[in-house]
Amino acid sequence: MRSKIVAGNWKMNLSQIQAQELCREVNRMNIGPGIEVYIFPPMLYVSDCRNQSTAVKVGAQNAYPEDNGAYTGEVSMWQLKEAGVEAVLIGHSERREYFRESNEFLKQKLDAALVHGIKPFFCCGEPLEIRENGTFLDYVKKQLEESVFHLSAEAFKQIVIAYEPIWAIGTGRTASTEQAEEMHVAIRSRISEQYGKEIAENTSVLYGGSCNPGNAQSLFACENVDGGLIGGASLKASEFAVLVSEETWTILN
Ligand code: PGA
Repeated sequence: MRSKIVAGNWKMNLSQIQAQELCREVNRMNIGPGIEVYIFPPMLYVSDCRNQSTAVKVGAQNAYPEDNGAYTGEVSMWQLKEAGVEAVLIGHSERREYFRESNEFLKQKLDAALVHGIKPFFCCGEPLEIRENGTFLDYVKKQLEESVFHLSAEAFKQIVIAYEPIWAIGTGRTASTEQAEEMHVAIRSRISEQYGKEIAENTSVLYGGSCNPGNAQSLFACENVDGGLIGGASLKASEFAVLVSEETWTILN
């Protein structure tokens, strides 16, 4: 059975005090049975959040593939592991776009995360023009092929996939349940071709992109949507509380 996951990507937001407060609130939330909750705070607050967290797992939004060395400003997977970090985002569209992270570089990050036993949340998703020209399924499959499918089956089993259509991130525009399910089915069947049906069935594929209390229930009810990677709504405790709650997960299922 694949895990049901709700993950909050705080991006570059919050003061230290605000991050500590939000972390405390998330840890006090009523989390639905069997739902795994992760938070991805800004790097500066990761250790604090890690030390404060009992009910939820803490991940980093980024990390560098080399263990140590002359890489000014970077933090390595090895250092994250030492700090007790359990997961890392890899391939978020903001990093692909603003920091020009290539598929080849993402591949190195994935390998490094797995060497250190950090769970990668691999993000994929198409920009608006690709959605509009109709080649979005091939586009996302190619992202997986170029960064992920070099992994052995054993290694692949450790990763979580997050499908995040770029046109839906932070825009208030969400993929419809049909659009989300269509892509999630395509991702799962491509995984099945590569690694077999059993591994595909056990891989968590999350949806991300303006997911909020108003649409989460119907998105999470899609057979192939195993939860969400949440940006904006993860910064508001009252909204995130709804996304992790039993009600959001049970009424439609
Ligand atoms: P959003 O961000 O929920 O604010 O659209 C999602 C993400 O970028 O992970």
